[in-house]
Amino acid sequence: MPAKEIMPGIYAVGAIDWDRRLFDELIPLPEGTSYNAYLIQGFEKTALIDSVDPTKESDLFENLKKLNIEKIDYLVAHHAEQDHSGTIPAILKAYPMAKVVTNEKGQEFLSSLLLISPDKFKVISDGEELSLGNKTLKFLFTPWVHWPETLVTYLVEDKILFSCDFFGSHLATSEFYAQEGELLLESAKRYYAEIMMPFRIIIRKNLDKIKPLDIAMIAPSHGPIYKNPSFIIEAYHEWTSDHVKNEVVLPFVSMHGSTEKMVRHFIQLLIERNIEVKPFNLPRSDIGELAMALVDAATVVLGTPMVLTGPHPQAVYATYLLNILRPKTKFISIIGSFGWGGKFIEDIKGLLTNIKAELLEPVVARGYPKEDDFQALERLANEIAKKHQEL
Ligand code: FEO
Repeated sequence: MPAKEIMPGIYAVGAIDWDRRLFDELIPLPEGTSYNAYLIQGFEKTALIDSVDPTKESDLFENLKKLNIEKIDYLVAHHAEQDHSGTIPAILKAYPMAKVVTNEKGQEFLSSLLLISPDKFKVISDGEELSLGNKTLKFLFTPWVHWPETLVTYLVEDKILFSCDFFGSHLATSEFYAQEGELLLESAKRYYAEIMMPFRIIIRKNLDKIKPLDIAMIAPSHGPIYKNPSFIIEAYHEWTSDHVKNEVVLPFVSMHGSTEKMVRHFIQLLIERNIEVKPFNLPRSDIGELAMALVDAATVVLGTPMVLTGPHPQAVYATYLLNILRPKTKFISIIGSFGWGGKFIEDIKGLLTNIKAELLEPVVARGYPKEDDFQALERLANEIAKKHQEL
């Protein structure tokens, strides 16, 4: 990404990662991502807001070189995860007078992850301000978006909120400013679903915390800048609310067709009852899309056959993800089939320790599903329809 002036004295100096397709060796990135860093030149001091993933270190340094940046006084570290902090040691080497500005937890994590020595830090408190001369950085602690140390910076005079991961999207685009539409909303929702959703309740508090600010622009550290902050703030309000949609998410796996027959029949029953259904054939599914579907669905029904004496490992993986992502799902059930025995219902229930949803009576077929199994699926579809109507 070439350096770009956002406003007088404020530059985007980060990097676009067009080719990256996996984050944390877990999260698919169908649209790539970016690591946004911003340089703010005040009359007296210069601050760099976050850095970039170490794989893109040269992009950041080239941008600083193009702008003839000879001095950095402050390096604001909103978040210790390495896609934003990983280049800090190299910056400190190139700009030895710079101080890493972060909170106490940030210092703890950065020392532990990147071995930065204590004398390199300037530790700030919640609400503290730091003057660059004609520009003021105001720091607000916003924990759990998505680590405990995360904070944001409000640039008072220009009304810009530098939010790091908060409000971000994994979206590599040459459009520097957000083009409001499906692609952006999907990228931001996918991002929220994958890393923010487990902290939904705390995020609401962070939304309240930034509410009094007069925000003209949100500059996150992934994806485009929002010139219309309400677009993403309103989306976050909806995603973190208790509101659920008349939807069933149906992650499933089938080995020889019995469970799949039940799933296909069940999909039809839900459609007939005007319930939106989102099936995910797990061995062929993008887990980011599954996470996104979990953001606002009222119900999750897991489909699995028995493998040896327990659920299929693909179903275990999906259940584990469901449990750690902590969606606001209200109802859960299980459908599936077995050949000669086992206990997949108990195993799956045992994995759902974080989920407070009501468990609706599962449907389990022995062998290929028969008339009484189809009737049981009808009973489950009716129960879901009734529960959704009562919401
Ligand atoms: Fe973009 Fe949590 O790092």
